[in-house]
Amino acid sequence: MKNLILDVDTGIDDAFALLFAARHPEINLLGVTCVDGNTSLPKVIKNTMKVLDAAGAKDIPVSAGATRPLIDEPRYAEMVHGADGLGDLGTPDSTRQLDPRPAVILLRDLIEGADGPVTLVPLAPLTNIALFLRSFPETAKKIERLVIMGGSASGGNATATAEFNVWHDPEAAAVVFNSGVPITMYGLDVFMKPLVTEKIAQELIARGETCSTFAGRLISNFIKQMGHDVTLGDYGAVLTALKPELATTESLALVVDTTFGPNRGQTAVDRRSFFERDDAHTHAPRIDVCVDIQTDVYRNTWLETIHG
Ligand code: BDR
Ligand code: CA
Repeated sequence: MKNLILDVDTGIDDAFALLFAARHPEINLLGVTCVDGNTSLPKVIKNTMKVLDAAGAKDIPVSAGATRPLIDEPRYAEMVHGADGLGDLGTPDSTRQLDPRPAVILLRDLIEGADGPVTLVPLAPLTNIALFLRSFPETAKKIERLVIMGGSASGGNATATAEFNVWHDPEAAAVVFNSGVPITMYGLDVFMKPLVTEKIAQELIARGETCSTFAGRLISNFIKQMGHDVTLGDYGAVLTALKPELATTESLALVVDTTFGPNRGQTAVDRRSFFERDDAHTHAPRIDVCVDIQTDVYRNTWLETIHG
């Protein structure tokens, strides 16, 4: 079993990730921490609990984290994820109770109390993770690896050069990428690859089970909104944490742009040889950047897990 903790801003593709993590037989989902990102923190918490209900998940602790980025004002992505942040499907509220511990405390307790190594999978702006690393540096050393959905080595989505999660809180991202914890970056270079179609959505709905119906409706609605096939997105980082051999990575020097110019939030990844590097990249941390994935395996593994 692989011990995982997810940090989420649920979010349609965070939902794909949560459904998978809660249902996969080789994943021990220790807890979920929430942060503002795709939508406000209260909506993220509601959505996360609804998704765990749909997954038929046991009583996994869900905790509240940051309500805003470290420096910037929050900027949400409700044009992508809907006014409620979860595709406006009208899913009923959960009766799950929020864990009383703030996210950084829950992270500390789960990592300290785990029966083996823990991989942390941030799928959202990195505010909670930066606050945690700064609050509990000794516990941070016990993290096996961070597998982060965020950043890009090849252009952005929030801006021409910045990916949404890093752009939302660049200072937090800079703290995390420079923390010394081993990091795999599951960024936009691979994020868009595992696509799902309307046919897949209808097949999931036709099974008539709570989880598959919920997943199918999410996909179908998302396709209608976007006007094309959609990616399973954040989910890919969870499978990469579970089965790293399915992704091709390169160890590359990475600098987060925290300046207030047009490239704020860019993860500037250096593919030049060492001798051509500028000073910033010579001293930058080496990050395992996902440059390719076994796309069909990613899609099929998700479908098999959701179908049950
Ligand atoms: C990231 O931004 C959010 O909208 C998604 O949930 C994903 O984590 C992609 O840039
Ligand atoms: Ca997300």
